Amino acid sequence: MNVLEALGLSTPVVQAGMGGGVTSAELAAAVSAAGGLGTIGLSDPRSFAAELHRAVKLAGRRPVAANLLVPFTRRAHIDACVAAGAALVVFHDGAPGRWIAALRAARIPVLCSAGNAAQARRALAAGADGLIAQGVEAGGHLVADRPLAVTLPEVLEAADGAPVLAAGGVADAADVRALLSAGAAGAIAGTRFLLTEESRAHPGYKQKVLGAQRTIRTMLFGMGWPLAHRVVPNAVTERWCARNELGPQTVRAFNRMSAPLSRLLPVSAQGPILAAQRVTVPLYTPALPLAGMHPGTVDRSALYAGETIHRIHDIVPAAEALARLTP
Ligand SMILES: Cc1cc2nc3c(=O)[nH]c(=O)nc-3n(C[C@H](O)[C@H](O)[C@H](O)COP(=O)(O)O)c2cc1C
Repeated sequence: MNVLEALGLSTPVVQAGMGGGVTSAELAAAVSAAGGLGTIGLSDPRSFAAELHRAVKLAGRRPVAANLLVPFTRRAHIDACVAAGAALVVFHDGAPGRWIAALRAARIPVLCSAGNAAQARRALAAGADGLIAQGVEAGGHLVADRPLAVTLPEVLEAADGAPVLAAGGVADAADVRALLSAGAAGAIAGTRFLLTEESRAHPGYKQKVLGAQRTIRTMLFGMGWPLAHRVVPNAVTERWCARNELGPQTVRAFNRMSAPLSRLLPVSAQGPILAAQRVTVPLYTPALPLAGMHPGTVDRSALYAGETIHRIHDIVPAAEALARLTP
């Protein structure tokens, strides 16, 4: 029995744990209650613990997962997953052996994202129960630099029988069906759930995604976390990525040097830094605009979204989004 089967889901679809406060307890619980797997994404340890507790409570007897971005993960996040009874933990951008061991000791299965065979093998060697193959078409931060059609078979082979879920380009039930026939144990969708009523993304961000004609793969929003990410264009990408989608070389060099900031600064510092971001000054954190923030932040921060923007044209309740993804 694979990890998802063991959770008793009625549909093999996972709502991606989108970090920075986008994944409300209402979003995760609605997905779980409807038979998929809802996920709380990373935020500062206090808010994360509170949101995860609330999601588990709202979801009743249905499982709820947690997603941890490795560069920002603290011991308190791991403790919160154990205390709240997370049904599954996903690590993105790394495979921290000691935390995987701590979660597994608490009988919480762990998956790690992988964009190639080497990352897949490292995650399994670190103790992961399974993997998430990501394709470069995915929204948000990218561990992959090739499409899912290439990375899924590669990760499946490296997994050697361990379950592999697939992320990137999942917009409807036909996508999920195709991934299952290609050998995936389940599908993960991010952008589809970003565009739901329950997601806490700023309304202006949701509208910008709905109206976007394209996505870009950039390194612009890399202060403290210099990993490529897929976003829809806004005023700052137009100002700084016109010549090169990755962003100016000097900005990328600064972002690379700033990587230790993710360890040194509390995650809660990102909100105030975001508020200070300007179109004219190319210093941008990975933080994204949330409901309630000043509308101007939508022009000055990362608007993560994947290539599915070309096929998603509405904001719907999360249960409806899940129904549309159910094969
Ligand atoms: C707004 C947004 C935030 C994301 N944040 C995270 C995150 O915190 N952790 C993570 O593992 N993946 C994150 N992702 C990536 C997803 O896990 C997944 O790979 C991606 O959404 C799949 O592509 P799709 O958006 O086309 O469905 C994020 C994606 C989006 C769109």
